[in-house]
Amino acid sequence: MQTFKLTFMPQRREVFLPVDSSLVELEFELHGHEAIAFGCRSGACGACVIEVLSGDDALGSRGAAEEAFLINLGFSGEHFRLACQCRISGDVTVSAAKR
Ligand code: FES
Repeated sequence: MQTFKLTFMPQRREVFLPVDSSLVELEFELHGHEAIAFGCRSGACGACVIEVLSGDDALGSRGAAEEAFLINLGFSGEHFRLACQCRISGDVTVSAAKR
């Protein structure tokens, strides 16, 4: 099975996920060392905002609802994503977004 590498900064923690995995699966992969605070897991709470540092294409494009919600939260750049709405399709480097 093809996997892709997701790197968390600044810890440089690397996780390998199968293609098309939801980033919500990171909760299990990181064994209690979560770098992303997941809440609702459905794009409604804003707890899981990440900044994509490299590999934007690896998480697909933001849907209209995700984009509107992120802008409402004050994250207007395309490199901000709701991790719970992302599926991996390439190597990517992210960090938790700072408010
Ligand atoms: S966990 Fe609530 S928006 Fe992602």
